[in-house]
Amino acid sequence: MTILVTGAAGFIGMHVAQALLMRGEEVIGVDNINSYYDVSLKEARIALLKTYNNFKFKKIDIADQEALFSLKDGITRIVHLAAQAGVRYSITNPESYVSSNLIGHLNVIEFARRIENKLSNMVYASSSSVYGNNTKLPFSVDDRTEKPISFYAATKLADELMSYAYSHTYGFPQIGLRLFTVYGPWGRPDMSAYIFTSKILSGKKIPVYKHGDMQRDFTYIDDVVDGILSALDKPPKNNIPHHQIYNLGNNKAESLMRYIGVIEKALGKEAIIDFQPLQTGDVQSTFADIKSSQRDLGYYPSTTIDEGIPRFIRWYFEYHQL
Ligand SMILES: NC(=O)c1ccc[n+]([C@@H]2O[C@H](COP(=O)([O-])OP(=O)(O)OC[C@H]3O[C@@H](n4cnc5c(N)ncnc54)[C@H](O)[C@@H]3O)[C@@H](O)[C@H]2O)c1
Repeated sequence: MTILVTGAAGFIGMHVAQALLMRGEEVIGVDNINSYYDVSLKEARIALLKTYNNFKFKKIDIADQEALFSLKDGITRIVHLAAQAGVRYSITNPESYVSSNLIGHLNVIEFARRIENKLSNMVYASSSSVYGNNTKLPFSVDDRTEKPISFYAATKLADELMSYAYSHTYGFPQIGLRLFTVYGPWGRPDMSAYIFTSKILSGKKIPVYKHGDMQRDFTYIDDVVDGILSALDKPPKNNIPHHQIYNLGNNKAESLMRYIGVIEKALGKEAIIDFQPLQTGDVQSTFADIKSSQRDLGYYPSTTIDEGIPRFIRWYFEYHQL
């Protein structure tokens, strides 16, 4: 009764694995520890997970089918979080998205369908970016999503379609979760909370796109972990179509300038702002409709940015020994 967590050295993967370990589950974590961002942060996350006796780690690239399929029996559930993340990086490096998000995702669902005695549930990460330039707010899982505006979003949309087809064909349960700008301790160095904090502290300008006229549904890591674990514990009910999609957001669109204000307050230092036009691939607003997530998963996010940002900054100071 082991749970496979892919992307365990990643920001969300580490927190999900830790929450599972803390409730006594056997977890096998997989990650290729690639150098998209500072490898030492990924190694530190794995070192933390290794303090639990019920954790095992395998350094595996999910695009390598043979390596992935060599994982031994006993896996009954999967949380699939390994992916090439980031909207902007996908403009210059589409190949790594094909490798991790398309080939890698196919390998994981192929692995899932071959599990003897059937997999009891698989949960995987999709993204709010699949909504593209949707103008209807908040974004509902019933909205159309066929117009992604970044290659990253296109691969996440493809993952949803591949998963749907596999669940339909082979009849195993899967839940795709569209995550909305996740932040918190152990967060990613390529995301705004981390970038703004490090630049403000070192007195450098922070780039603010669309002249600050942007909104994001910032979601605190603990709320996201609760949503992922609830989804894992509640495979799709009717078994047809065996595949469901849910939003995991905070159900609150925060203005980017207020978010920066909360970071400034927590740091006790003002930002030097470098206003810039909207970047290709970025959307102006994200805002999650979470009605179906509340109804089916009992997902009730409760952390505001006023509570979550200071916790991120406390971790940032501890981790960097400032
Ligand atoms: N953080 C967010 O705000 C956010 C928003 C929407 C969706 N997501 C999705 O959530 C998931 C986790 O994101 P995260 O923020 O923790 O990112 P992350 O980059 O910190 O974690 C992803 C992990 O996957 C690993 N990985 C990448 N390609 C791999 C491969 N081919 N084989 C094995 N391991 C591989 C990376 O080394 C990394 O440790 C991803 O699927 C991401 O697309 C995240």
